[in-house]
Amino acid sequence: MSVRIVIGSDHGGLELKDAVKAYLLERGIAAQDLGTNNLDSVDYPDFGEKVARAVAASAETLGILICGTGIGMSIVANKFPGVRAALVTDDFMARMAKEHNNANIVVLGGRVVTPEQGCAMVAAWLDASFEGGRHQQRLDKIARIEREVAGSRS
Ligand code: RB5
Repeated sequence: MSVRIVIGSDHGGLELKDAVKAYLLERGIAAQDLGTNNLDSVDYPDFGEKVARAVAASAETLGILICGTGIGMSIVANKFPGVRAALVTDDFMARMAKEHNNANIVVLGGRVVTPEQGCAMVAAWLDASFEGGRHQQRLDKIARIEREVAGSRS
């Protein structure tokens, strides 16, 4: 399966986004940048929505979201059905986000980690593999909850 990567940030995550894009390019991966592209103050939900919509629409798309803390982007992204967005602050969390949670979006805080740390976390997440088994059973429960909550709203 060929995986596409989409990436987005607000102004608080712009510097780290540029570093992550450059790191991915070194690995031969051209991430699709959905903005923002300058330091003007913007609203993180606008960019979180773009990336999360792309990931929710395709099982072959992974996302990277960055704001100042990573908190706002996590909240937005996890509103989308099928999105499992994980805010990570170290390499262990980044690896676990894939091995146990099969996170299809990794979220970073541009004011929390250095560019070097952020790139290392992206590497740990990308290079890890979902373990399946009991972890898939837990993701199935999350999917059931998601369907039931959506159904109870309509
Ligand atoms: C922007 O100042 C900041 O609130 C945003 O980047 C993010 O940290 C929100 O969760």
